[in-house]
Amino acid sequence: MDQAGTLRKLMRRRVAIRPMNMKPVRVITVTSGKGGVGKTNVVANLAVLMQKAGNRVLVLDGDFGLANMNIVMGLEARHTIHDVITGEKEISDVIVTGASGVRIIPASSGVMRMTQLSASEKTILMERLEAAPVQFDVLLIDTGAGINSDVAYLNAAATELIVVVTPEPTSIADAYALMKVMSQDHKVKRFKLLVNMVDHEKDAMGVYNHLLNVSDRFLNINIEYLGHVLRDARMSQAVLSRKVLCEGWPESAAAGCLGAVAKTLLEKPAAIELTGNVQLFWRNLLSEVSL
Ligand SMILES: Nc1ncnc2c1ncn2[C@@H]1O[C@H](COP(=O)(O)OP(=O)(O)OP(=O)(O)O)[C@@H](O)[C@H]1O
Ligand SMILES: [Mg+2]
Repeated sequence: MDQAGTLRKLMRRRVAIRPMNMKPVRVITVTSGKGGVGKTNVVANLAVLMQKAGNRVLVLDGDFGLANMNIVMGLEARHTIHDVITGEKEISDVIVTGASGVRIIPASSGVMRMTQLSASEKTILMERLEAAPVQFDVLLIDTGAGINSDVAYLNAAATELIVVVTPEPTSIADAYALMKVMSQDHKVKRFKLLVNMVDHEKDAMGVYNHLLNVSDRFLNINIEYLGHVLRDARMSQAVLSRKVLCEGWPESAAAGCLGAVAKTLLEKPAAIELTGNVQLFWRNLLSEVSL
């Protein structure tokens, strides 16, 4: 049997033996059309806040082009998911523990494209993920900006998708383009909108209403307003200090907004949750990527 055939067989077998007594897992991707809108910082802060609220959070740095989650979280990534794919490391060797006990699977910049993995690399990755002795309630994924195929696959395999946008017209236009591609090419119909770097909450509502109006006319999708984060100089200060804002400056304006966003997310569970384990997410993801 060729490698692709072996992987397909492996996937079928794994589905059949999936343990059924595990807690559902939320898989949340944080994505954007335009770059530099605050995704990585949003993920780092939401991870800390959700962990503090009693959830076991695992963060995947899904930005395989410019991996920098570990920098924002102030961690040294000695090994990355790339070492798992090459077969040199187990997942547990790669995971690092950051603020408040959040666990992170670091990526390495520019060395890996999920969509370019060979069938044998996918098989290794899947086996190691299946065998990983880590349990969690929430998997938060930071994606790269734009709509390349890796981003699209991560978004399509998640149970919830947060689109980060700023009030800049280019960011709004790119958020619209992202939702259009995700809905038309990947059948993703539900989005949560987070408006970052606003000077007033009403500006965020303006961005939301604008996107809602245009999408109601041209796309058959559902956009939910998740919240806003105020523009706050402390955010850059936090990045420079390599400390997560909510940890270092919990009283700051942006940290307050992020707290409200985390609360909303936790109060409103996903419409779909993965029953079984997060491994199902990986299986979905890797089986989507054409073999
Ligand atoms: N609410 C905010 N107020 C002020 N600055 C912010 C805010 N959110 C993010 N920033 C700043 O914006 C910059 C980009 O943030 P970040 O790296 O999180 O964006 P990103 O969307 O992950 O970027 P990329 O697309 O390159 O991955 C950082 O310098 C960060 O400090
Ligand atoms: Mg980023």
